[in-house]
Amino acid sequence: MTTEITTRFPFTRLRRLRRSEGLRRLVRETSLSPHSFVYPLFVVHGRDVRKEIPSMPGQYHLSLDRLAAEAEELRSLEVPAVLLFGLPSSKDDAGAEAYADDGIVQEAVRALKSADPELVVITDVCLCEYTSHGHCGVVVDGEVDNDSTLELLARTAVSHARAGADLVAPSDMMDGRVAAIRSALDEASFAETPIMAYAAKYASAFYGPFRDAAESAPQLGDRRGYQMDPPNAREALREIDADIAEGADIVMVKPALAYLDVLSQARARFDLPLAAYNVSGEYAMVHAAARNGWLDGPSVALEILTAIKRAGADIIITYHAKEAARWLRER
Ligand code: PBG
Repeated sequence: MTTEITTRFPFTRLRRLRRSEGLRRLVRETSLSPHSFVYPLFVVHGRDVRKEIPSMPGQYHLSLDRLAAEAEELRSLEVPAVLLFGLPSSKDDAGAEAYADDGIVQEAVRALKSADPELVVITDVCLCEYTSHGHCGVVVDGEVDNDSTLELLARTAVSHARAGADLVAPSDMMDGRVAAIRSALDEASFAETPIMAYAAKYASAFYGPFRDAAESAPQLGDRRGYQMDPPNAREALREIDADIAEGADIVMVKPALAYLDVLSQARARFDLPLAAYNVSGEYAMVHAAARNGWLDGPSVALEILTAIKRAGADIIITYHAKEAARWLRER
């Protein structure tokens, strides 16, 4: 049978299966559940801090003492995981607080795991929030030096695992970081700690609000020397392939919405769990338009999250996680 015959009108009427919500539900190909969401958190020093991030309405800087309440809320919404970002007390050339045992992220891991041992605590492994220059690695002669950065990333990942992280997620885009982190974890007796690699991470303007939130904008230059060039899709598959070869357990495409083609190609090519990062700029756009009354925020956000799932993501890292979990309940 050819499609020419089977889909010819009037024998075929595709509208027949769209006539009621019950029918539409039966033939729905993609379903969205809070179980695939990961909620990013920005943790700061201090006490009793819950300060809204201006460019990310509904997202907050939280101090350690506010994390237990957050864990409880996520549990009630059935969002299983968080991704931690930290704002250090001070920054330096080598990003020392990133790998300090009493660093902000390490403390946050402990606080969250003691509040709820079942919460999946994922840590972002990168130096950009911790370096005075704001780059994701060590700067040598005005350039981010790949190989000397690897050791610091590995130290950071091990210190997160030691604090109790369930999963470490390197986001720096240095070559060879997954292998370096894998062998450092193994050596430190964390052979069971998985790695979620930000495998295909683009040099994107959609990270703008995040850089305000994490105070991690590069002080000089940009990240185009290490993050991927947006026009490239085949290269993304090579990046993913390399990270898998180095031992990644989960691979990620980031951002999500403008890169659904990359996600879909990655889905077709690789069998590992695939994550997509619905980034800060994507979130901010929806909220800004909704605030102006230009878009229906909940509908648009759920449509975007569904599209990310449909393109092939198993896991969606999203600032919408909590509100989307609520909206899904109301439907
Ligand atoms: C750290 C990091 C960034 C994001 C996640 N991890 C910023 C960047 O690379 O500049 C962006 C997340 C977002 O925009 O929501 N390297």
